[in-house]
Amino acid sequence: MLVDQNAESRDPTLSWCGRFLITSYEKLTIINESLMSILVVGGTGTLGRQIVRRALDEGHSVRCLVRSYSRASFLREWGAELVGGDICEAETIAPSFAGGEITAVIDAATARATDSLGVRDVDWQGKVNLIQAAKEAGVDRYVFLSILHADRFPKVPLMEIKRCTEAYLQQLEMNYTVLQPCGFLQGLIGQYAIPILENQSVWVPDSSSPVAYMDTQDIAKFAVRSLSVPATERRAFPVVGPKVWTPTEIVALCEKLSARQAKITSTPTGVLNLVRSTLRWFKWSANIADRLAFADVFSSGQSLTEAMDETYSTFDIDPAETTELEPYLEEYFGRILKKLRQIDYEQSITAKESKRKKTLRF
Ligand SMILES: NC(=O)c1ccc[n+]([C@@H]2O[C@H](COP(=O)([O-])OP(=O)(O)OC[C@H]3O[C@@H](n4cnc5c(N)ncnc54)[C@H](OP(=O)(O)O)[C@@H]3O)[C@@H](O)[C@H]2O)c1
Repeated sequence: MLVDQNAESRDPTLSWCGRFLITSYEKLTIINESLMSILVVGGTGTLGRQIVRRALDEGHSVRCLVRSYSRASFLREWGAELVGGDICEAETIAPSFAGGEITAVIDAATARATDSLGVRDVDWQGKVNLIQAAKEAGVDRYVFLSILHADRFPKVPLMEIKRCTEAYLQQLEMNYTVLQPCGFLQGLIGQYAIPILENQSVWVPDSSSPVAYMDTQDIAKFAVRSLSVPATERRAFPVVGPKVWTPTEIVALCEKLSARQAKITSTPTGVLNLVRSTLRWFKWSANIADRLAFADVFSSGQSLTEAMDETYSTFDIDPAETTELEPYLEEYFGRILKKLRQIDYEQSITAKESKRKKTLRF
């Protein structure tokens, strides 16, 4: 630090203005020292975008490796720098580390269910390419988004790949932090809230394990905070919500908040397994089959949750800041129902107006 911290005590003639400048300079120096240049991979995704937002809000400089500039244009508007690349094509990764200023990578990428590339391409080969590139670039920290209990489901391809990636990171001489979420609150909107509002079928498995969903904004907080907490180096942490929820409980809550009844379609696990083994035979549907393999996780009867005390204390984050499922859905339905009422009102005004005009014509 360039500033002499005892200047004021040694020089009593120092003016208030001088003291103010020194204190401000000290604060600025401390802030600048903790600011980082972060490469986010998967920045267009549900969780990745929250990580970009959080890192920018905290003043870090953020670069995103993206496959499509147009899909990622909102990240540039927020203030991130975009670099084109695809982790499955190893030679396209290096430009993301150009300039040598990237100190950390936060990896929130995963194969899209709708993509031609499957989990073996993206989540395994792509990640090995990315980790090696990060190591060669000499980054200080690699934050990897894994999945809770990945070691318990060796027959589920994505779970096994996550377990192998964690093991791969452990045997490298590299600082990493593994975060293990199990489900996102944001996913519940498409799965339950929208179908109920649109009177569409809600698919509910006949047996389903309860899941401790977490808001992606909260997970993003842990991802960015890990970079400034040395105690998180070379360790894995569960990052899950405060309470487990079954699909039946979530449907009941959505029905209460929307004042609508859900059209429930029960999906027997046996049928899902049959569909999955059929889809696996075709290249175009192998990715969907891998996703359906998650039925094994949800029908295992094991709660997808873990104690979070150590995670909160290590990251120095207050559990009271974590968003719970009930207020999250309450806020969503409140906002949407208000909008729907407004649209209904505007439509009734337009209908009345056109009826009045028709009457005037005759
Ligand atoms: N969703 C969950 O409930 C859940 C639960 C536990 C853990 N996780 C983990 O959390 C992380 C984030 O999940 P998410 O649901 O937010 O993901 P997501 O919304 O599906 O987004 C996936 C991201 O990965 C990018 N991507 C895919 N293939 C790529 C490639 N070949 N090269 C570069 N980027 C590529 C996508 O970019 P494009 O826009 O170009 O497609 C997108 O930004 C993942 O590691 C996931 O396994 C998720």
